[in-house]
Amino acid sequence: MQNISIELTKNPKQKPADQSKLGFGNYFTDHMFLMNYDRENGWHNARIIPYAPIELDPAAMCLHYGQEVFEGLKAYRTQSGEISLFRPDKNMERLNLSNQRMCIPLIDEEFALKALKTLIKIDADWIPTKEGTSLYIRPFIFAIDAHIGVRPANELIFMIILSPVGAYYPQGINPVKIYVESEYVRAVKGGTGFTKTGGNYAASLKAQDEAITKGCAQVLWLDGIERRYVEEVGTMNVFFVIDDEVITPALKGSILGGVTRISCVEILNSWGIKVSQRAISIDEIAKAAKEGRLKEAFGTGTAAVISPIGELIWGEDSMVINQSKIGEISQKLYDTLTGIQWGRTEDKFGWNVKVD
Ligand code: COI
Repeated sequence: MQNISIELTKNPKQKPADQSKLGFGNYFTDHMFLMNYDRENGWHNARIIPYAPIELDPAAMCLHYGQEVFEGLKAYRTQSGEISLFRPDKNMERLNLSNQRMCIPLIDEEFALKALKTLIKIDADWIPTKEGTSLYIRPFIFAIDAHIGVRPANELIFMIILSPVGAYYPQGINPVKIYVESEYVRAVKGGTGFTKTGGNYAASLKAQDEAITKGCAQVLWLDGIERRYVEEVGTMNVFFVIDDEVITPALKGSILGGVTRISCVEILNSWGIKVSQRAISIDEIAKAAKEGRLKEAFGTGTAAVISPIGELIWGEDSMVINQSKIGEISQKLYDTLTGIQWGRTEDKFGWNVKVD
């Protein structure tokens, strides 16, 4: 395993004074990790240096064709004062899944985890401690060849930056109104929907923007072929509780395999609740809502954790879910997940990884 050289900052930044006003993605710590790739040397020159802007050639390929992937995970300062990561191996595994699809050379997952832990230890004082806060970790890889022909890059950079964060959505755990999107689509099977690449998010902006003008917080994406089957909500996976069944769309190539998604499935299974990963159409949801059988709906993601859905707007129809209040299962999942992450609840699954 290669060494990581370390250059510490001589000018530490002021940390945000009020942890209740962090929001999401507004502050960055004192250091960052970088590593270069070229065909001759492979991944090399791993280093941690003071956080600063980077220089790129205007022809850098990532700026033109979007050959880029990223990840998102969090570090927590637990009650006993330890630093804990939640299932980081899953993120590293998914990073390589994204790399494969985007013609980006694979990274050594174990080394990437070591880099991430080393960086966190250096900036450990930046981990916020207030309830509901954490240190968001953003690993990302992008193409830097100065070349504007379309082909896979020969030169890339892998970076990790850290951001102390609060809730992703200003609403926090309060239920939000969601617009069922039937014009724009996020992804189709065969495309890049299952990867974490910037283009997926760029493609979602227009729909999100229009949803906001309609008084909704985010969109519920339908499949790109029949515009019938539910895929994701905003930047999250989605779950519905109909009668006694918890349903989340099966991963079939166009949906991101969320770490929070699979953790919720495993937690629900451990509670003996029936959870199905299957196709679910918007008609099935509307019918269940009409018959009073749609009990809860919520999004899951690293950034937002659990985001309850209080109302779905589908064409002229409005489906109010659980009187726009957080449901029992959503709340219990939120408490259990954050309890494990914060070291308040026993980590029966062995998901937490200590940074020591
Ligand atoms: C996450 O939940 O970590 C995400 O990647 C969502 C978003 C911040 C892009």
